[in-house]
Amino acid sequence: MAKINCIGILTSGGDSPGMNAAIRSITRSAISKGFSVKGIYRGYEGLMNDEISEFTTESVSNIIARGGTILKSARSKEFQTPEGRQKAYETIQKEGIDALVIIGGNGSLTGARIFAQEFDVPCIGLPGTIDNDLYGTDLTIGYDTTLNTIVDCVDKIRDTANSHERIFFVEVMGRDAGFLAQNSAIASGAEAAIIPEDNTDADQLEHFIGRGIRKSKNSSIVIVSESPKCGAMFYADRVKKEYPQYDVRVSILGHLQRGGSPSARDRILASRLGAGAIDAILDGQRNVMIGIRNDEVVYVPFTDAIRSDKEMNKGLIRVLDELSI
Ligand code: F6P
Repeated sequence: MAKINCIGILTSGGDSPGMNAAIRSITRSAISKGFSVKGIYRGYEGLMNDEISEFTTESVSNIIARGGTILKSARSKEFQTPEGRQKAYETIQKEGIDALVIIGGNGSLTGARIFAQEFDVPCIGLPGTIDNDLYGTDLTIGYDTTLNTIVDCVDKIRDTANSHERIFFVEVMGRDAGFLAQNSAIASGAEAAIIPEDNTDADQLEHFIGRGIRKSKNSSIVIVSESPKCGAMFYADRVKKEYPQYDVRVSILGHLQRGGSPSARDRILASRLGAGAIDAILDGQRNVMIGIRNDEVVYVPFTDAIRSDKEMNKGLIRVLDELSI
């Protein structure tokens, strides 16, 4: 295998709090082990268009506490084409980059997997997504911060929901995964969560309604996982129609969930995974995502990481159910 001297870092897809802590960790642990580092801007777009600069330890000073990503991010359509990936490879050669560390979610790691199959460039992935939907890692970078942000918002919504004795449907992100919805519901004491991993959406709503909405409560909060088919608005409309006596409101939290200073947990996770990426390169690993399982750093092949069946612990569903009577 060709000797690795220079490591390129990029962030791709939806940003997540803690990406900067990961960039800092990769940069500093690479430099301390004798590698040079290049920062690639705007994800795969910057890789194709040569938006790259040399990184020193100072390039990553004072970023550990900042949300977003100093490298910027993008969802690149062009990189999904063979021509786009060829362009990216040419930049890599021109810049003298020997290995890539990609921080991103499912789509970004899928891109890395295809690129690594086509070209002889070792690629290491870091799970950077608020959705927590990457298989083989207990946690992804940004998930904990977002969970805390949602809980903060729901606590505030609860105040006004109580005052007006209302039912609130609060829609949260997560793409096809319900980790954010289920766990934020437990942490905020919500009455129910509607998530893709459970029964049909209709069953979940029925179940909530069947318990007797607000029989003994001042307010009810249902956390709804975003879905392309039906979101919080859909359920709210249904309840409004069938139970006109209830005062129903919807709150879609949107992109505020992705911002903000990362939690200590996300900073530590990102720091460990970033250092793990450099250890993996030194170990001769390629085409793996660095994950964390039972508090141990693990290597997860890209094909496993991007599996769509990361399981939710069904115990979480039971706990919410029992506690929301
Ligand atoms: O994957 C992260 C995520 O925030 C999802 O939860 C959400 O569905 C999506 O990205 C939103 O993407 P965009 O910022 O492109 O609207």
